[in-house]
Amino acid sequence: VNGAEAVAQGAPDSGPTGFSAKPLAVQAVPAHVAIIMDGNGRWAAGRGLPRVEGHRRGVEAVRRAVRSAIDLGVRYLTIYSFSSENWRRPAAEVADLMGLLNVRVRIIGERAGLSADIAGLLDEAEERTRSNTGLTLVVAFNYGGRQEILRAVRRLASAVAEGRLAPEAIDFDALSGALDTTGIPDPDLVIRTSGEQRLSNFLTWQTAYAEYVIVPEFWPDFDDDAFRAALDEYHRRDRRFGGLSGKAG
Ligand code: IPE
Ligand code: IPE
Ligand code: MG
Repeated sequence: VNGAEAVAQGAPDSGPTGFSAKPLAVQAVPAHVAIIMDGNGRWAAGRGLPRVEGHRRGVEAVRRAVRSAIDLGVRYLTIYSFSSENWRRPAAEVADLMGLLNVRVRIIGERAGLSADIAGLLDEAEERTRSNTGLTLVVAFNYGGRQEILRAVRRLASAVAEGRLAPEAIDFDALSGALDTTGIPDPDLVIRTSGEQRLSNFLTWQTAYAEYVIVPEFWPDFDDDAFRAALDEYHRRDRRFGGLSGKAG
């Protein structure tokens, strides 16, 4: 089975109405929530503050979101912390963001070409938390979905060129396994703050059948209530994966 089928088969039934007053804990909590944390700059601008202040408050919102995810029983939380395209921003803002980076556990994105101190920080963060068993926090850093797919395709192409892999063996699992996210289930739910209705090159392959919840709040204002509301919205959705409704009779 592929990731989407695995999720479809593994998800507990949320009942004929699809939404009930049951506490979240006994409903099908999404195993993997991925967040596009957007709006730090606008949050600061609205208060006449420098953008870096928005990023600082954004780090607090990340801590809150991690706690909420643990409370709610989410197993994987991915946060989009810095995109490949974010290098287009002024050097000072990039430096501010690097300084605030508080990463743990699993980092996806391009490592090659990063400065030695940042690459070292990322390695150390993964190494130090390797034996932790709770929530896996996946930090997408210097990450672009298309870039990730290209790296994976090159890896597979090399294996074919070296005679280690047959072209026919390149299936969904083979490509998934060559991505940075190997071993991590596809996101069930993608949350984007600040109202923008786009993916911005986030988890391009992995989100093929994710549910999207777009909320108006700027990221620094995203709190536990907002997290729970997004999960409530997710529970009202009917995930069909191209098949027929599991909810309508
Ligand atoms: C998200 O907030 C943080 C990063 C992209 C690194 P932004 O910095 O994009 O804030 P806005 O979208 O300009 O308000
Ligand atoms: C997406 O936000 C990237 C991150 C949240 C790290 P952006 O603010 O960079 O996205 P666009 O430019 O609005 O698409
Ligand atoms: Mg933005």
